[in-house]
Amino acid sequence: MAQPHWSRQLIFTLAGNPAVTRFVTHYGMRLGASRFVAGEDLDAALAVARRLNQEGFPLAIQFLGEHVTRPEAAEAAVEEYLRLLAALEERGIDAYLSIKPSQMGLAVDEELAYANCRRILERTATVGRFVRIEMEDSPYTERTLRLYRRLRQRFDTGHVGIVLQAYLYRSAQDLEALADLEPNIRFVKGAYNEPASVAYPNKADVDRNYRQLVQRHLERGHYAAIATHDDRLIEDLLAFIERRGIPRDRFEFQMLYGIRPQLQRAMRDRGYTMRVYVPYGREWYGYFVRRLAERPANVGFVLRNLLRG
Ligand code: FDA
Repeated sequence: MAQPHWSRQLIFTLAGNPAVTRFVTHYGMRLGASRFVAGEDLDAALAVARRLNQEGFPLAIQFLGEHVTRPEAAEAAVEEYLRLLAALEERGIDAYLSIKPSQMGLAVDEELAYANCRRILERTATVGRFVRIEMEDSPYTERTLRLYRRLRQRFDTGHVGIVLQAYLYRSAQDLEALADLEPNIRFVKGAYNEPASVAYPNKADVDRNYRQLVQRHLERGHYAAIATHDDRLIEDLLAFIERRGIPRDRFEFQMLYGIRPQLQRAMRDRGYTMRVYVPYGREWYGYFVRRLAERPANVGFVLRNLLRG
């Protein structure tokens, strides 16, 4: 969200080109995806997870994958999450799972996505681990909120949470509508290529909305995961938290693996819960493109890697 809209738009457009997709996918991690992705398999993710835990960071782990069109692909993702969960338990790693609804089959059928999420949650809830249902592009927003509400009929707020995106006009209303559930919400600015009919095109509006959403949520005493690398926003919210005397067990900070690691360490050193989001898996293309679109300067480092060969 930090740069002119046209450059973000250009990156998304280029990334949709099949030749670009083939090229980037082929040269893969060498082009720079490895800066943002822990690795392509579970072992690589566990090694990164262990190291980050040792450095004092709790984690949210995502097995990469989205927009699946076949039930078997969603089923394979569920199996991987169950393997991941077993490995976390076995190794005593401090992490929760972060899941994309379209990876669970939301694009195919709501019932399928619900059944798949429920399968994972039945296991995670038994061992006392949390699952975050992520928020994707706007065609999925309504269905994702329905999915979350339905899951909450079986699982309490300590076992499953949701995400709201500050760039969407609708998020303020969604926050009000969710309040009865005392939800655990991750607040993000929003990473997808949305039209001005649904999302604020200007960064200043997104930031203002972000502040207001988090403040409203914290005022109610509900748990907030403040997921941003924007240090000004973080300081504004900390000033609000201080003024209102909001206790530290009501919020945490979250940042993405590979983005502003110094800021991550600084937040940890100030004694805040600083959770790092660790994605892994072979389906890293969409995730990588969103990281480039957030910051066109990242395209420069991809080109440098390319020239280096
Ligand atoms: P902003 O984009 O204003 O960046 C602030 C500063 O952070 C920049 O000036 C730069 O220094 C640094 N920075 C940000 N992005 C960078 C990048 N890619 N490379 C290098 N530096 C960068 N989105 C979504 O739609 N659904 C979701 O479920 C999630 N989940 C999620 C979880 C977690 C833990 C985080 C941190 C983020 C998400 N997001 C997300 C992504 C989010 O919507 C947003 O796109 C990014 O966090 C970037 O926005 P910032 O809030 O960091 O602000």
